[in-house]
Amino acid sequence: MNPTIISGLERNRQVKDYIRRHFGDESEVTRHALQRSEEAGLKPIQVPVSVAKTLSMIAKLTRPKTILEIGTLGGYSALWLIQGMVQGGRLTTIECEEKHVAIAKKNFAFAGIEDQIEIRQGLALDVLDEMIEREEGPFDLISIDGDKREYPDYLRRVLKLAQSKAVILSDNMIPKRGEIGCPDPRDLEAMAIYLFNQMLADHPALETIPLTTIVGENGRIDSTGFTIVRGVE
Ligand SMILES: C[S@@+](CC[C@H](N)C(=O)[O-])C[C@H]1O[C@@H](n2cnc3c(N)ncnc32)[C@H](O)[C@@H]1O
Repeated sequence: MNPTIISGLERNRQVKDYIRRHFGDESEVTRHALQRSEEAGLKPIQVPVSVAKTLSMIAKLTRPKTILEIGTLGGYSALWLIQGMVQGGRLTTIECEEKHVAIAKKNFAFAGIEDQIEIRQGLALDVLDEMIEREEGPFDLISIDGDKREYPDYLRRVLKLAQSKAVILSDNMIPKRGEIGCPDPRDLEAMAIYLFNQMLADHPALETIPLTTIVGENGRIDSTGFTIVRGVE
């Protein structure tokens, strides 16, 4: 066999390593946040650095005054998102785990940005309902990375909190398991993600661009859904 022919997965792994070597540099504050999160025993389920940088670049291009994030973990993605926010802007991030909130607070303090960030501790759907009730927002940029089973319900709610041309970013467009586009009905996570994708595809006021990424040790193909809400005028 031609030694230059390598399997798709092996090639994905090599591409991922190459990108990480050339473009995977962390800043002092993001590296610190990762270290502290690891030391505190948080699961390493933050977005990969390539996705974090994409989120950051989209924020830098759109210059939001208000950012809403669902799923804080240790604050890693928030630290990247906030880099694009205009001066005086505010990032609100929702997290249900007390331990994650405590670590994120420390990481935001280390970065010197605690005044620009509000952490809302609670279940995302409850917090979002409260925000809608209080007519909070509108948000210019929204990042969804919470409980995958709740993505369709997050979308219904964040559309009420988003400004008409907001950018909505969502992590994980392709579930880890199962046939692509045809989930096992017992797999609630996959069912919800595909419903979420369908809602994006069908919505007349949303323009969705999937950004394909290579993630995980095995070089799995994933996608970060990148949606522009265009308003319904
Ligand atoms: C994938 S992690 C977020 C990673 C983070 N965005 C990053 O990249 O640094 C998902 C987070 O959402 C939180 N979470 C899960 N379900 C939630 C819910 N129903 N309400 C609020 N937070 C939730 C988890 O505790 C976890 O910290």
